[in-house]
Amino acid sequence: MNRITQEVRGARLPSRNEAAVIVQGLTRRFGGGPAVLEHLDLAIAPGEFVALLGHSGSGKSTLLRTLAGLDPVVEGSVSRPAEVSVVFQESRLLPWKRVWQNIVLGQAGANGRERAVAVLQEVGLGHRVDAWPLTLSGGGGAAGGFGPCIGS
Ligand SMILES: Nc1ncnc2c1ncn2[C@@H]1O[C@H](COP(=O)(O)OP(=O)(O)O)[C@@H](O)[C@H]1O
Ligand SMILES: [Mg+2]
Repeated sequence: MNRITQEVRGARLPSRNEAAVIVQGLTRRFGGGPAVLEHLDLAIAPGEFVALLGHSGSGKSTLLRTLAGLDPVVEGSVSRPAEVSVVFQESRLLPWKRVWQNIVLGQAGANGRERAVAVLQEVGLGHRVDAWPLTLSGGGGAAGGFGPCIGS
């Protein structure tokens, strides 16, 4: 089935009052095609980890884009924190900037390198501070992708 469905009424799901994310009746289709997401209800508590499982094309990225505010809510409603951080599937690190410079990209303030080093140590890349993104391994690139999120 090419759809994600989840009921918000499950006993283990957070109540509306305590939820950080509330999705109600979210339906998304592209053009005149079938619904990728159909009447999706979902509540996520602050600090809760949620894994989306589904075959390729089942709508996982569409839901994530919606929660990140990158895809419009056409039908249904979505309540989410004003500020969200996204780690994209590809690392999105700028190849012409060193790893540490990517971490503090767009941030003002002094001690940028110092702050970047702290973040990189947190994701196990303390030894690649001055490396170029393209020299990171696949896993290193993925970890580096978390950096800008943690650092922002
Ligand atoms: N911008 C778009 N325009 C048209 N179709 C799209 C667009 N984004 C996603 N789709 C379609 O929606 C379906 C779900 O895609 P996606 O959310 O990327 O799935 P998943 O991440 O689970 O692999 C796929 O059939 C995909 O082709
Ligand atoms: Mg995807």
